[in-house]
Amino acid sequence: MPNTFDEGALMAAARAAREHSYSPYSAFAVGAALLCEDGSIVTSCNVENASYRLTNCAEAVAVASAVSQGKRRFSAIAIAGPPESVTPPCGACRQVLAEFAPSLTVLYSNGKESHATVSLETLLPAQFELP
Ligand code: THU
Repeated sequence: MPNTFDEGALMAAARAAREHSYSPYSAFAVGAALLCEDGSIVTSCNVENASYRLTNCAEAVAVASAVSQGKRRFSAIAIAGPPESVTPPCGACRQVLAEFAPSLTVLYSNGKESHATVSLETLLPAQFELP
């Protein structure tokens, strides 16, 4: 597991993945880059639907994609929204991320062409898990 990683490179991967966003309804494109413990990076974007509630957030798409590739151990995720927006993960995505990585390092774009870095435990304290 990489203890250190290039935060700028992970955010750059998220920003690049954002280009693939399918977001014709909100026009709010999001990209994500999930760093796996094996050092690989799984990228994703939000995928919207005409039935709005069926929209998939970029973070959830990243987790589903990684797990479907046999990867379940994650070190960090970078999330990139529109350049002027602060884009932390939504509440539902925090729980999705917590399923596999309760202490995940989360990087999110902060609207100043830079990013914030925070632990998922800070974003989602008292994480739900079944007994
Ligand atoms: N979105 C994400 O992809 N991730 C989040 O954490 C917040 C919201 C997407 C969903 C929708 O396609 C668009 O952003 C506007 O809500």
